[in-house]
Amino acid sequence: MKPTVSILISGRGSNMEALASACDSKVIPANVGVVISNIADAPGLDRAAGFGIPTAVVPHAGRSKAAFEADLQAILKHYKTDIICLAGFMRILSADFVNLWEGRILNIHPSLLPDFAGTNVYARTLAAGVRESGCTVHRVTAEVDSGDILVQSRVPVRAGDTESTLAERILQAEHVAYPQALAMLVSQLAAKPHPERKVS
Ligand code: GRF
Repeated sequence: MKPTVSILISGRGSNMEALASACDSKVIPANVGVVISNIADAPGLDRAAGFGIPTAVVPHAGRSKAAFEADLQAILKHYKTDIICLAGFMRILSADFVNLWEGRILNIHPSLLPDFAGTNVYARTLAAGVRESGCTVHRVTAEVDSGDILVQSRVPVRAGDTESTLAERILQAEHVAYPQALAMLVSQLAAKPHPERKVS
């Protein structure tokens, strides 16, 4: 039985698309269950619908984190999720939520972690004058950007780079690295569905 991967986004959804393509073309032996956004007009929702993937919006504004995460959890369970991929999802998940999915949540970050964890990554990378950057796919733990690393991919930082040229170069690397990392996790978790998954 193939595991089900659900993807959380907040925006453009290009990494979501890279993951969905890899599942669609059977490069990764997994199904995409649902794409959930906390932002109602995230462009990634239309991209997901274009793949025929169910979508859902769970707004975060004006609600407690507990209420937000309870809604997320209900939808993830409804779609029999085994693995969660955060793909440009701009909310920090609580330790309680992360613990429910221990070892089963991946995130992608546009730097070579542990360097440049957190936000404002491209500006800080350029300001530091480093010659190399890249992206990191890591397991999500309660502490932001610090779980164990599955895949890192390096790109050069070029003279004259702006935040947008650097971001674009890193993004191309992300679209390769994230499917690689998901394939690794899928093979690690083979035959181990999420304990709460209700198989019908
Ligand atoms: C990516 O750069 C990713 O590293 C960061 O947010 C961006 C999301 O881009 N976490 P997209 O929505 O996948 O196109």
